[in-house]
Formats: sequence, structure tokens, C-alpha cells
Amino acid sequence: MALSFEENEMLTRAGPGTPAGEMLRRYWHPIAFSRELKGRPKRRTLLGEDLALFRDEQGRLGLLALRCSHRGTSLEYGHLEDGGLRCCYHGWLYDVEGRVLDQPGEPTDSTFRERVRHPAYKVQELAGIVFAYLGPEPAPLLPRYDVLVREDGTRSLNARVVHCNYLQMVENSVDQHHFKWLHRTPKTRLWKDEQLTSEVTDFGILDTFTRRVGEERYRTISLFLMPNMNKVGYHLSEDHPAAFAATHEGYEALRWRVPMDDTTTMHFTLYFAPLVDGKATAKMPQDRQDEGLGDSIPGKYRWDETTGWIARGDQDRCAQESQGPIFDRTREHLGVSDEGVILLRRLFKQCIDTVKNGQDPVGVIRDPAKNEIIRLVPGEYRVT
Ligand code: FES
Ligand SMILES: [Fe+2]
Repeated sequence: MALSFEENEMLTRAGPGTPAGEMLRRYWHPIAFSRELKGRPKRRTLLGEDLALFRDEQGRLGLLALRCSHRGTSLEYGHLEDGGLRCCYHGWLYDVEGRVLDQPGEPTDSTFRERVRHPAYKVQELAGIVFAYLGPEPAPLLPRYDVLVREDGTRSLNARVVHCNYLQMVENSVDQHHFKWLHRTPKTRLWKDEQLTSEVTDFGILDTFTRRVGEERYRTISLFLMPNMNKVGYHLSEDHPAAFAATHEGYEALRWRVPMDDTTTMHFTLYFAPLVDGKATAKMPQDRQDEGLGDSIPGKYRWDETTGWIARGDQDRCAQESQGPIFDRTREHLGVSDEGVILLRRLFKQCIDTVKNGQDPVGVIRDPAKNEIIRLVPGEYRVT
């Protein structure tokens, strides 16, 4: 059954004061790489809010509303000096908590600066990623997922902007049916007897995709964690019949789809492979932390001459962006294979209601004992 216009609006709008926006604000979200914050402040947009992210002279991270509380000049052009971020226009100086430390031009005995508090948000770093929290206090714990904290492996990271609403990307992560068609290869056409299952868990949704290839049966397991992250793992040999995944042999990946505004989304990916005798067990995708948040051009997708189809890395973006900036779900026709998407929307609505009732939505962690390391085990397995 398609969504009503009102339901589609409720699930897709992520700005301040919107139902989904308020729910999403109960979680930490990736916003940048630590390595991006060596020099000047970075401008970022998160959940419809324009922000300036910086590291002060003492190494503390700050995330401030972008526009100066004086007369609105962007703090991305500010100077990192004198214990904070100084606006380039008239020199107001802010610390990482939004206190005004200096207001040049005002009388020295003025208390004006004590009466202004600039909006500031919490930020934390883990595994080279800067995470931001825009919700009410007290902030929950930043989840310590296994591949973020494991010390027995190597990580590779990248991030880019995708030009569509975040929910199209989140829905893709619980839609396993597209593996065979969007990520087609000559081998995927040989898959038979495909079976999809999706079930709600205490962290989000667990999807499995089973199929027969020749005499063998294979099962892909994918974990979706509220509100916008999924983990997939690949433990495949080169001749594995899953084919599209065989190039990702031996590593696991976390992917976050983070709303910037309602029509642009940051896509962060972290790859992890264990080290054995000092060597990674997988050929890792290139690390792009130094490039920071890359952009992309909607409608422009890399072409793979060897397969005669859009290159693997752009296939999902093509499918998601071509649904439109905010897909009009009043026009869709969901079938049995869309069970994961149906469960996801139900879970989102439930979490929106939970937040309205003043409680924590699914996946929010406050108990440190439950956050030492959160093991997530996805993968691809032969079914016995
Ligand atoms: S606008 Fe920032 S100090 Fe005046
Ligand atoms: Fe995909």
C-alpha cells in the first residue's frame, strides 16, 4: 500500500521541529573526518541546520550554528585564535560551547557578551569520524560498534554527498531484492529460488537474502540499525557466485545516510578488515579521508565498459537519485519483496511516536556496560 502525502511528509522531512527530524535528533550522526579539521573551520549542514565545525587551539572540537550571533556572517570564514573561533566581520570570539569570549568594539565594562549565547552542539571522535548530536540533553552514548573500536584490523573511510532525500537511501539498505537487478552481472542471472526475510530486532531490522546458485544455497545477512546505518559483511572467495560482492572479499562495511537538508544526504562508509601477520585480509577500497566530504553530480554516473552498465559504486546512487529529490510515495506499488521497506517505515513511525511521548527510540544507548563494544555480525554464508 502506498503512503499518503502526509505520511510521506512525516517520514522525509528532517529539519528542526519536524516529527522525523525530532526523532533523528536523538542519535549521533557522522558529520566529518577528524583529518578534515586541521586548518580552517568547515561548513556542514546536518538535519536542516547550517553549522561551522572546527578544532580550537587546545584541540577541542566545536560545532556552532553557522551564522554569527552579531549580524549573521558565516563562521566558516572565522579565525581560530585566542582560545576560540573569531568571526571574520567584527571579531566576536566564541568558545566551543557557544560562550562569547570577546566583543571588540563594545565598552570594556559591558555585560553584553554574557547575555548572548550562541547555539553550540556536542561533537565526539571515534575511528577518525567526527560525530555530532543535535538533540536535547542529556546526550546518549556514542555507540561503540565493533569495527569502530577493534584494534586488530585496518580501516578505510570515504564520504560523499548524494542528491536525494535520506529516506530513499535508508530504504535501499533494507531492500535486498535489488542486489540481483541493480547490481547485475552475468552471474546474478543464475540466482534461483530467492527468498527474502526481514524482521524487527532490538536495534533495527535484520534482513536475509537466500538464493540457490547451481547446487549451493547462499545467504546474505544485513543489519540495519536505527536510524540510518547498516552493516554488511563479505567473506567471499573470488569464485563466489554472489559475483557482485566478490570484489569486496573479506571486509565489513558500515554505511550511514545522514540528512543534510531534505534533498541532500551525506553517505559515510567505513570499511574494516582484520590484520593477520600485519596484513589486511582483504583488498581494501581506497581511503579518502584526506579528500573530506566529496560531492557528486545527479544524473552523472560512472560507466563500466567491461560490464556495459553503470559502475558498481554509482549504481545505488543512480537508483536513489532518479526516484526524485523527495520520492512521492503516493505513487508507488509495494509488493511482497518490499517487506523490509514496509517494516522500516513502521519502525520509523513507532520511533517518532516514542519520541513524542518523551522516551528514547530504538537503539539509543545510555548504559556504559552495554557500550564497551557492540558486536554486529553480518555476512554471507553457505546454507547447510
Ligand atoms: S557579524 Fe560576526 S562579529 Fe559581526
Ligand atoms: Fe545496493
